[in-house]
Amino acid sequence: MTMTNLPLLDSFGRRHNNLRISVTDRCNIRCFYCMPAEQVKFLPRAEILTFEEIERLVRLFAQVGVDKLRLTGGEPLVRTDIDRLIRLLKGIPQIRDVAMTTNAVTLARHAERLKLAGLDRLNISLDALNHDTFLKITRRDVLDQVLEGISAAQEAGFTRIRLNAVAIKGLTEAEVLPLARFAWERNLELRFIEYMPLDSEQNWADEKVLSGAAIRELVEHEFGPLVPAPRTDPAQPAFDYLYAGGRGRLGLIHPVTAPFCGTCNRLRLTAEGKLRNCLFSLEEWDLRSLLRQGVAEPLILEQIRTCVAEKRPGHLIGQQQFERPERTMHQIGG
Ligand code: GTP
Ligand code: 5AD
Ligand code: SF4
Repeated sequence: MTMTNLPLLDSFGRRHNNLRISVTDRCNIRCFYCMPAEQVKFLPRAEILTFEEIERLVRLFAQVGVDKLRLTGGEPLVRTDIDRLIRLLKGIPQIRDVAMTTNAVTLARHAERLKLAGLDRLNISLDALNHDTFLKITRRDVLDQVLEGISAAQEAGFTRIRLNAVAIKGLTEAEVLPLARFAWERNLELRFIEYMPLDSEQNWADEKVLSGAAIRELVEHEFGPLVPAPRTDPAQPAFDYLYAGGRGRLGLIHPVTAPFCGTCNRLRLTAEGKLRNCLFSLEEWDLRSLLRQGVAEPLILEQIRTCVAEKRPGHLIGQQQFERPERTMHQIGG
């Protein structure tokens, strides 16, 4: 191994092999935990990385150990011909997993093309099965489209589909059991995610976090004891549990009440080509301008290494020193 292709180790020994790529800051719904209700300012087209620019950057990341990609947004399916990007990325030999996180609103008409392009996995956001609650959260009446999208993905042959439900105290308690039942019946893996302070309207408060522990209690009350599943990938954000009956798996993502930063392996590339070393990063490293200036690849790699080297141990939510990043979730990609 030469100096130039050493893995991306940070100063705490965490190895970064997982790159989340936001392909757009646009979205077709307006979840309150992420976006403002109106007058959202989106990036102008010219600011956004082209598919070829993303591919060039991923080839560089792949040289230094990145082998796992996730396409996010905003909503990645609003980017035209996203399957073309998937093909480009699947053509990079070191890349072993290309996944996508989507709200599934338009998934019914995209699922087959995504599968054909080689997309390995889909994570789908679904916070509520009750129409009123869904509307309160997303501010768009599109629950039926999302459910159609999930069915279409299963029909297209996606097997390991994960559902992500953001858990909000005073709002989604009554959704926990219906979601668990739905996932169990449909053979989907459900994960509940604690609400994090990344909403545009800055309404997040500690008291609004429905904790992983509270969810576990709700689920166990109905389904019996949950058994912690072995952690096959210690870097994954979800802590998985198996239902006592043997079939089915439930995940809890609890960044607020029990942070998992110690095993973090993630970097994030924004739609306009800034590299972030944490969801809560206060600093960014501009890779797009280097690309567009025609800077040599070793220098771009050096910028990537600097970003990794500067990574802090964790996010500090709940501590006095915590500072919210300027970007909100739709400009980072979750
Ligand atoms: P896989 O484990 O590969 O399926 O992906 P994932 O769970 O990382 O992807 P997904 O986009 O479904 O992530 C689910 C949610 O977990 C994200 O939207 C975030 O809310 C949260 N999450 C993911 N990665 C991080 C992270 O590095 N830090 C924090 N605090 N939260 C994260
Ligand atoms: N807190 C927790 N999760 C969030 N997501 C978006 N905003 C937040 C937040 N403030 C999740 C969505 C989706 C993923 C992209 O990020 O539910 O699953
Ligand atoms: Fe990684 Fe930052 Fe998330 Fe912690 S908060 S797991 S360091 S991205």
